[in-house]
Amino acid sequence: MKSLITGGAGFIGSHLCEELLRRGDTIVVLDDLSTGRLENLHAALATGQVRFVEGDIIDEALLRELTAECDRIFHLAAAVGVKLILERPLHTMNVNMTGTHNVLEAACDLGKPVLLASTSEVYGHQVAQSFREETPSLLGPVSEMRWIYAVTKLADEYLAAAYAQERGLSYIAARFFNTTGPRQTGRYGMVVPRFVQAALAGDPITIYGDGRQVRCFCHVADVIRAVADLMSKPETYGDVYNIGSDQPITIQGLAERVLELTGSSSPIEYVAYTEAYDGLGVHDIRYRAPDISKLSRTIGFRPKHTLDEILTQMIEYYSTPGRG
Ligand SMILES: NC(=O)c1ccc[n+]([C@@H]2O[C@H](COP(=O)([O-])OP(=O)(O)OC[C@H]3O[C@@H](n4cnc5c(N)ncnc54)[C@H](O)[C@@H]3O)[C@@H](O)[C@H]2O)c1
Repeated sequence: MKSLITGGAGFIGSHLCEELLRRGDTIVVLDDLSTGRLENLHAALATGQVRFVEGDIIDEALLRELTAECDRIFHLAAAVGVKLILERPLHTMNVNMTGTHNVLEAACDLGKPVLLASTSEVYGHQVAQSFREETPSLLGPVSEMRWIYAVTKLADEYLAAAYAQERGLSYIAARFFNTTGPRQTGRYGMVVPRFVQAALAGDPITIYGDGRQVRCFCHVADVIRAVADLMSKPETYGDVYNIGSDQPITIQGLAERVLELTGSSSPIEYVAYTEAYDGLGVHDIRYRAPDISKLSRTIGFRPKHTLDEILTQMIEYYSTPGRG
């Protein structure tokens, strides 16, 4: 099987690349290296089974050429990270909508199945003990630019469903909840690498808000296993799946765990959300946990890695100078 991974030099994409290699695929990676890094693919490229193409998903002709040579597409390329989205909203909309439109059009025309990387952000500030795939989205208002990410990803899901209904596209929409692990960078505001790097450096750990907001962190190895399993089962196509861990922790609890495992004496500091994002309309989501029963029923999914295992691996990863 030959797989195209858009965004394959990124955090999740590079791990997916290694998983697909283990499963016997040959791979083409398309990435513009905007937030990804070629060094993430170091081991994968050394196998000789991966071809890296530096390019943009906005480039329709290139996308079509690469789609034609592959059997299936894992579409992970996107503008990500709250900071980037707030600073470059137009770019975000262009990459996440026009780029994804290009991917879907090429996949549909050439008859290739595609997995879309969507996000738990599509549930917005909906309040629920855990989000099921059918839980309605609660997004907006337009004055809060942070919602652009969720809106573009939700539009992508509708676009894929429309292609499926009218033109027979085979697709899966995978809603990733907080995914973390080695190679995730803190440069775009991701919380776990930020905390680990601060603790290792003895710098203050900065919590946005009061620290009582709840998240579930899933090891990237569990997420990419689910992605590869879903794509290899055609009976799962044409549907939406939550992928994540269902073990909740507060952000305060996360910070304390990081301090304990690193043995760091970094202080914890609190910054109001509005201050952290220059008043650009970022509000806190208090509770975010997935209902993963659909994924469990479909592919027998259970996350294998505990939060302590994730943190221990990230501490080891970031202890090597130059990573981050
Ligand atoms: N990490 C998470 O917790 C999480 C949660 C929900 C959804 N996701 C989704 O998973 C996917 C991967 O995210 P990630 O965390 O690995 O981030 P990442 O930034 O490491 O990966 C995104 C990759 O896409 C590439 N890219 C960006 N714009 C591109 C373009 N125009 N053309 C080609 N390549 C481009 C980047 O260089 C990068 O390698 C994204 O679609 C993201 O929205 C991630």
